[in-house]
Amino acid sequence: MNYSIALIPGDGIGPEVTGPAVEILDAAGDKAGHVFHYVELEAGGRAIDSTGVPLPEGVVETAARCDALLLGAVGGPKWEKLPGDLRPERALLGLRKGLGVFANLRPAALLPQLRSACPLKDEVLTAARPGGEPGFDLLIVRELTGGLYFGERGRSADGSSAFDTETYSRMEIERVLRTGYASAAKRRKKLCVVDKSNVLESSRLWREVAEELAKEYPSIETSYMYVDNCAMQLVRGPGQFDVIVTSNLFGDILSDEASVLTGSIGMLPSASLGSAGAAGEKSIMGMYEPVHGSAPDIAGKDIANPLAAILSGAMMLRYSFGLEKEAALIESAVSRVLDSGLRTGDIAGRGNTGETIVGTRAMADAVLKAVEDAP
Ligand code: IPM
Ligand code: MG
Repeated sequence: MNYSIALIPGDGIGPEVTGPAVEILDAAGDKAGHVFHYVELEAGGRAIDSTGVPLPEGVVETAARCDALLLGAVGGPKWEKLPGDLRPERALLGLRKGLGVFANLRPAALLPQLRSACPLKDEVLTAARPGGEPGFDLLIVRELTGGLYFGERGRSADGSSAFDTETYSRMEIERVLRTGYASAAKRRKKLCVVDKSNVLESSRLWREVAEELAKEYPSIETSYMYVDNCAMQLVRGPGQFDVIVTSNLFGDILSDEASVLTGSIGMLPSASLGSAGAAGEKSIMGMYEPVHGSAPDIAGKDIANPLAAILSGAMMLRYSFGLEKEAALIESAVSRVLDSGLRTGDIAGRGNTGETIVGTRAMADAVLKAVEDAP
């Protein structure tokens, strides 16, 4: 099969990590005779430099005509002083909204090889784990095109106060919850709705909709948690969670917290899905990006971890193209490379023997070779 992939390398470490992700996608596709055609597009800081705006006209439309979008990262200190709607981050928000990818899947699991890079104690990592093995395997489903990120905002006339608004419709809440249920059905059949319904009216609507919907999914165990408690539970017993569904802002914050537990934010891939894929079927359009940002401080130094971008490529194969076997091929290649002891600096365990610290390129080459060598 032929697939077209919109590619936005972006700023900072974006190009350094999407380059390897593309090579590895190609190698995995090659095994089964699939060919990927890339349509490179500019967005974020780079686009500001060349066109004056973060999301030039036509970018969303061109991306939408492709089968999926792979994005590196956008942003950097160079553009930080620009007014809000001209900042590189606007490109991300414009793409998410423009492509209608309202469900953002952020899996966070502790790979056994990275145990020493996880800051939690064994007793915390074994809590609520049936087998007693230290670890966790959770999925944050973050609402991505609504809430505080897209609500009305502004300043008072004299500039002495400012506001942002959290607005959610029943429809927006219901569709992301359904994505959560579809995911939970394929996992350990537990879904935790995270909100702040003891204070916020928008959260009370979340809970109301969730309580109604839960009746449609009797085989899934639905629970509810306030976001402050969830932030605490993540570091007290992450093993208790399977799927967490939450709003845009809460999901942003909780996914950064969860990433640290996996060893590094450099390990976390993400998939953002629209309606078809979001309901658990094959998706027509998905946007795939590592959860980490553009990390301008380490850009161009060959030390960034390319695994989040590489694993985002695997998620693309799975969710947008239905190529489960090829997705698993990439994931097991990453696992074997970690078995061999190769680590980028961010995931190196303190004082661990048997580990070799390598740069971005060497890590990517090792994964590439593991994909190529796979039977
Ligand atoms: C993320 C990022 C973005 C977000 C920023 C860069 C706008 O933190 O994808 O988590 O807040 O959504
Ligand atoms: Mg974030």
